[in-house]
Amino acid sequence: MTSELFSSLPLRSGQVLKNRIAKAAMEENMAGDGQLPDEQLLTLYRQWAAGGTGLLITGNVMVHAEALTGPAGVVLDEDAPLAPFTEWAKAGKSGGGAIWMQINHPGRQVASDMPGVVWGPTDIGVSLGKHSSRFGRPTAMTPQQIQETVARYATTARRAEQAGFDGVEVHAAHGYLLSQFLSPLVNKRTDQWGGSLENRARMLLDIVRAVRAAVSPSFAVAVKLNSADFQRGGFDADDARQVIAMLEPLGVDLVELSGGSYESPAMTGRSTDARTQAREAYFLDLAKDLVTTSPLPLMLTGGITKRATAERVLASGVAVVGMGTALAVTPDLPVRWSRGREADRQMRPVNWADKALASAASMAQVRHQMRRLARGSSPRPGTHPAIALISERRRQRTALRGYRAWLSKRQSAA
Ligand SMILES: Cc1cc2nc3c(=O)[nH]c(=O)nc-3n(C[C@H](O)[C@H](O)[C@H](O)COP(=O)(O)O)c2cc1C
Repeated sequence: MTSELFSSLPLRSGQVLKNRIAKAAMEENMAGDGQLPDEQLLTLYRQWAAGGTGLLITGNVMVHAEALTGPAGVVLDEDAPLAPFTEWAKAGKSGGGAIWMQINHPGRQVASDMPGVVWGPTDIGVSLGKHSSRFGRPTAMTPQQIQETVARYATTARRAEQAGFDGVEVHAAHGYLLSQFLSPLVNKRTDQWGGSLENRARMLLDIVRAVRAAVSPSFAVAVKLNSADFQRGGFDADDARQVIAMLEPLGVDLVELSGGSYESPAMTGRSTDARTQAREAYFLDLAKDLVTTSPLPLMLTGGITKRATAERVLASGVAVVGMGTALAVTPDLPVRWSRGREADRQMRPVNWADKALASAASMAQVRHQMRRLARGSSPRPGTHPAIALISERRRQRTALRGYRAWLSKRQSAA
């Protein structure tokens, strides 16, 4: 029996997704020399491609070499060699599905030990209680820095298309730069980029326009947006509804809904209660409401691991089901579902009292699975989150030395 889950989805660009299951973006933290994709990343994506997912969205790729979410981030700018990205696109498409590159700028969500710049709409830093000092202090972006950043997104998208990717997803969720501009709590500007929602959305809309102008009409352009930031006075579902309407005339193919940020890590289910975690699809109630007014197809990500949940999400009118964690543990989950099987194993939620640390540990645990897949080993979801976190922090220190050396070489060559 073919269910909706395995029906194709034609998009506005003319691209057709072969089914309704997408791997959501998960930063792999696996860049090789020169902040480039290497063989490990290709091995990982070949496994996901073979697993039956209709669409693979890469972990976020950085548009600005001086602003990385972490030291092992992949950078695609004007200077990056294209060949490693061509290989990455090929690996992602090897199973007959599509691959889109997620493109991102961290803004103020940059660790304080990272070289480069820490920018934001204003100079308000990330507030994480006793962990706040983990992030750098941002400076407010100048109009010129905003315009140059808009151009960087377009450059990365153009080069992604040249490399063979089928689309890009602009990351405007999870508290990164564009989500900071959208947030009335972080964006206190008084110029054309601050104040009203139209102004707070200006940078995102300009980026989408610039990206659309830089790529061919058949190349997909998507946006990942928070259904809500889950902070009092923050970007909420009504703002999301209006931003989706603003994106509609700009030739966007799909909007992915997620939620949260480092300050309120709802995207990993951390700030939800046990009932929401057990119910899966953390943002479904918000999405159901947005679906009724959205002029664009929506994708929903967050907490989905079972076929019944995925079907419930689609039944609510959502067009694509996004999964991260479940596909890191079971990369062939779509093939299993098509054969009436479920995953054998699940990742256990990290229920530590310190929410920021719990969120970091649960992400480290997922990345631990991705690293195993990238080495050709099977996932081991039972690994203790503290072990995954410690080993990730060690690896990050080594990556930081490599990134520092690479960046200073580039800067002295420039
Ligand atoms: C290790 C890890 C890395 C992530 N990196 C990204 C990212 O680069 N871009 C993004 O939009 N979301 C990222 N996310 C969030 C996921 O896309 C997704 O929204 C979240 O994990 C909830 O979905 P899930 O419950 O299916 O994992 C990441 C999540 C994890 C666990």
